[in-house]
Formats: sequence, structure tokens, C-alpha cells
Amino acid sequence: MLERSPLAENALQCLHDEDYGRPYDTRTLNSSTMIFSGGRSGISLDGDWNFCVDLLDTGLRQKWFAMEPMAAEERAEPWDYDPYEGETVPVPSCWQMLKEKWYFFEGSAWYTRPLDVGTPQDGKRRFLRVGAAQYDCKVFLNGVFLGNHVGGSTPFFCELTDHLREGRNWLMLMVNNARTLDRVPMRNTDWFNYGGVYREVALYETPKTVIRDLFVHLVPDGSDSRIRAEVEVEGATSARLEIAGLGIACDIPLDAGGRGEVTLEAAPELWSPENPKLYDVRLSAGGDSVSDRVGFRRIERVGDEIRLNGKALFLRGISVHEDDAVHGKVTSEDDLRRRFAHARELNCNYLRLAHYPHHERAAEIADEMGFLLWEEIPVYWAIAFDDPATYEDARNQLCELVKRDRNRASVIIWSVGNENPDTDARLAFMKGLADTAKALDPTRLTSAACLVNHARNRIEDRLAEHIDVIGINEYYGWYEENFEDLVAIGANSNPGKPVVISETGADGAIGEGAPRRGLFSEAYMTEVYEKQIATLRPLDYVKGMSPWILYDFRVERRQNIFQRGYNKKGLIAADKATRKKPFDVLAAYYAERREDDAARDAQAADAAREETA
Ligand code: GCU
Repeated sequence: MLERSPLAENALQCLHDEDYGRPYDTRTLNSSTMIFSGGRSGISLDGDWNFCVDLLDTGLRQKWFAMEPMAAEERAEPWDYDPYEGETVPVPSCWQMLKEKWYFFEGSAWYTRPLDVGTPQDGKRRFLRVGAAQYDCKVFLNGVFLGNHVGGSTPFFCELTDHLREGRNWLMLMVNNARTLDRVPMRNTDWFNYGGVYREVALYETPKTVIRDLFVHLVPDGSDSRIRAEVEVEGATSARLEIAGLGIACDIPLDAGGRGEVTLEAAPELWSPENPKLYDVRLSAGGDSVSDRVGFRRIERVGDEIRLNGKALFLRGISVHEDDAVHGKVTSEDDLRRRFAHARELNCNYLRLAHYPHHERAAEIADEMGFLLWEEIPVYWAIAFDDPATYEDARNQLCELVKRDRNRASVIIWSVGNENPDTDARLAFMKGLADTAKALDPTRLTSAACLVNHARNRIEDRLAEHIDVIGINEYYGWYEENFEDLVAIGANSNPGKPVVISETGADGAIGEGAPRRGLFSEAYMTEVYEKQIATLRPLDYVKGMSPWILYDFRVERRQNIFQRGYNKKGLIAADKATRKKPFDVLAAYYAERREDDAARDAQAADAAREETA
């Protein structure tokens, strides 16, 4: 009788072990293991990967990752899945969109592909970058567990260097999208719970020296004449910064921890939506080099004003999800550019990227086109606010988002959550996140989508004390029927800080089977928009709005005869082409606002000139 291999032995023993997952939840892949990837040419690992859904975590129990590749007929022991054989799926993708039988699948799935890097002993370091995997992603290389990452919308890196071998390597990712009580978001969301490796995957090669971070910004001292560069480099004592457009070329000494910063006199042309000026920035050290295209601008809160480069601002916005009828949460350059084109037609200068970090290309395109952005982590509705591990997950997602996007001039607001119940635990949790955002990036504003205090008919939330901009989600005319209350709230509130209506709107179905009047009709949705605009317009402390939402989007919990699995509050249907009447209502209001604001700015400029004359 053949002696059973340890793997075969384990396949029997593991049936009695329900603690099988613990060794694979180290969460060592996080914001501290990121490297700066701007300007690096990665080797794309997109394309077909072997794939298998794994509802019972059999792969982790039986250690599928430890199986050696061999021809099926050569195997001497029975196995339940062979990661080196079988069907494939394209990466990036959401498995729900690939097969009908996977549409509601929530659980684990295995992605496997070969990886050939020639001679890994060439002194180079090699880093895997996963743009995003929803939700927990465990990395295995040649049978060795290298760590896992939690958080469904931020990039992470895993260094492969010491585990690569000559010739063929095998890379495996185990992704789990199950909704649980301790994740961020928790298990109840008003968007579809996609799963999979749904953004790009690449391999980056570096010398021994690695540039881990580069943050370049205008010093927020109001002078607009000083630029600061904060860098982190592993394996060097200095780094060279070049910003050719500003005549900057200087060495930055690094401390023992590889960190350094420099503040330089410079008078950059300021970035704004009207003048989205970007500068090429390059950092090099020890043979490694990275680059970025950075806009320099100043965003600040002064009293109840939001000011961009010293000028008061009204945010003419719209909220957007990452959702597509065909591709799920996978986005593309065309999809993003269509989104911004529609925002432009709406006369927007601003978008709320709800409720999680969107693809990094969104902020890069917004930098180029001149849009302002609210970016957010999915601390959404109920969260385990008293669970330290949940707080660390939320904090890490925030740190990864800030480190990924803090060179983006378009990003003006970090939002730490949405519509959370006002408890002591929630206050401590979200104050901690707001403080974290400020500490990582003092050059931007913090916010959260709070709720109106309906008991006191006022805009007030204990969190407001700890954030710069008070986001308010209010649905008068939809969830709240009395518009008069919104008028009263407007009169009763004196928030002392800028308020942005981060959500308002109503469902409006169009097309076959749509109601002609009443709730869920386009006519009713239009009436809500007209009344909302009329009520909000005179409130001076409202400094912006991002109605909910640009496109109808997929969501499981919406199943009435007009929704059928979609939230129908979009100004445009899920085909991302068919518009509803409120699109024109909002566009007209924003056009007026833009003219009014331009006239006010011109008046202020004339007054300033007269003063100095
Ligand atoms: C909430 C929530 C959104 C949701 C919307 C709605 O405010 O923030 O995520 O989709 O309302 O009910 O349509």
C-alpha cells in the first residue's frame, strides 16, 4: 500500500478542523507594503487564469496551493481540484458577470497562472501589484503562502523576490467576497456584492533600492509659493527630485528609515477645473525611478466656505458608483471617460466617487479634465464599530487610498463613511479615521455623509466637530415625505461649516412597464428634483451637492416591479445612454449656478482691483 503523502493525510485530517483559515489571515499585505508605482512599466499579468469557485474553502482546507503540477494520469492520490488544469476566466473580471450560475456566488475562488521571470537571481526585486480584489485576497507562490490583503477596492503589493525560481513559477490568488459582520463594509449594502480580481494585475521589477512613496504638494500656508516633497526610499541615503517645468532639480537626504522631505520656493501655475495644469515630477534613487503628473492647488475651509486657490467654491456635483450592466465593478478607460463626459454635460465641476475607492484612473482623468472629487472608504451603514480588527481594516483601506491618490489635484475631500448610526463607538471609530486622513495628508478636507437629526429637524452630527465639510444625505420627497421639514431644517441649522448635500434624489423608472405617475415614475422623480433645487438654492451654508446618482445601478435588495434588481435613481438608465428628465433639470440649475458664481467672482475681482488702485 502506498504510504499516503502528507497532503493526502491532511485531506483527511482537515475534515475535522474548522480553524483552518487562521494561518492564512496575517494581513501582512497592507499600506505599509506598498511601493510607489507611478511611471513604472509593469509586466501585465492580465489575461486568462485557471479558475475555480470554492464555496466550502476546500482549497484552503486541502491546501490545493501545495499540489505539485503534474499530468492528471500521473497523479498517485485522489484530488478534488487541480489548480493547474480546468477552466479559465479573464482577469480583470467579476465572476458574477461571467456565468449565470456564479451570479449570486459569495465565497472563495481560486485564480492560478504560470509566471516565468527568467533568472530570478539577477539581483532585481519583483513586486506583484493587484489593483483590487474583492474582498480578502491570499497570495501563494510555488506553494508558499506570502500573505493576504483585506479591503475590496484598494491596490496592494506582494514582494515575490525570494520565492521565485528559475523557469516556471506558479502564482495563486484565493479571493473571498463573503459578506461578514466584521468587514468594511459589513454585510448589508445598497450596491451589488461583486467578487473577484476586478482590476489589473502586474509585476514590477526594481533594483535593490525601491522607491516606496512620493507625495508632492503645495505647502498649505496660503502663499502658493512653496512646494514640499515627502519621499520614502528603501536602500538609499538620498533621492533626486526633478520638476522640469519649475526648474527644480535637487537631492533629498534620507534618514535611517529611508524617509526625507524637502520644501522649495516655487511659483507653479495653480491647478483648477478651469486650468488643469499638471507638472511632470520625477524621483530617482539607487537606479530606481518613478514619475507622476502633479497639479498644485490649495483647497481649504474658511468659515462655512470651501475655497480653491483662495476663491470660494460651489460644488456642482453628481454621485457615481463603479457599476456596469455587463462588466459589473470592472471599469475601463472608455467607461470612465463616458462618465466624465456626462458630468460635463450636466455642467458639473465635481463628482462624489461613492462608496469606496474607485479605479485610480478616475482621479488621473479628473486631474487632466479638471473635475474635483470626493473619495470615500466603505464605512457604510452598520459596521462593527467596537471591533479593533474592523477599525484596522478601515484605517488600512483609508491609508491605501490616501497613499494611492494624494498626488491627485482633483481629489479635494477624503470621506470616512456614509450614513452611520450616531453612537459613541461610531464617533470614536470615525474620529480616528478623520484624524488619520489629516495626519497622512494635511492638504485636503475631510468629510463623511452624515444624516439629518430628524428628531430636532437640524443638520447636526457629533462627527461634524471632527471633519471639515459636513456631508448630508437627505431624501425629502422620497424617504422623507414632508418637504416643509427640509425648509425647517434649512432655517433651524447653523452648522458653522460648509455643508454639501452628498445625496438626494428619487427613483424614476423609464421604458417598458414604467409607471406614468406616482412613486417610481419619471414624472415624480422630476418633481422631486425641482423641489429639492428650489429648497436648497437659498441655503447659503450649502456649498455643493452631489445628487444620487448618475446611472441606475445593480443592487440585489431592490426587487419591486419597477426596480427588478436595480436602483433606479440614476439620471441616466443602466445603459449609460438613455437620459431621464431630471438630467436636464439639474444641468439647467448647474448652468445657472456656474454663471452666477462667475459673475460673483468677477465682481469680487473688480472690487479687489479697485481697492488696490
Ligand atoms: C442611501 C445610501 C445609498 C443608497 C441610497 C438609496 O443614502 O447612501 O448608498 O443607494 O440612499 O437609497 O438609493
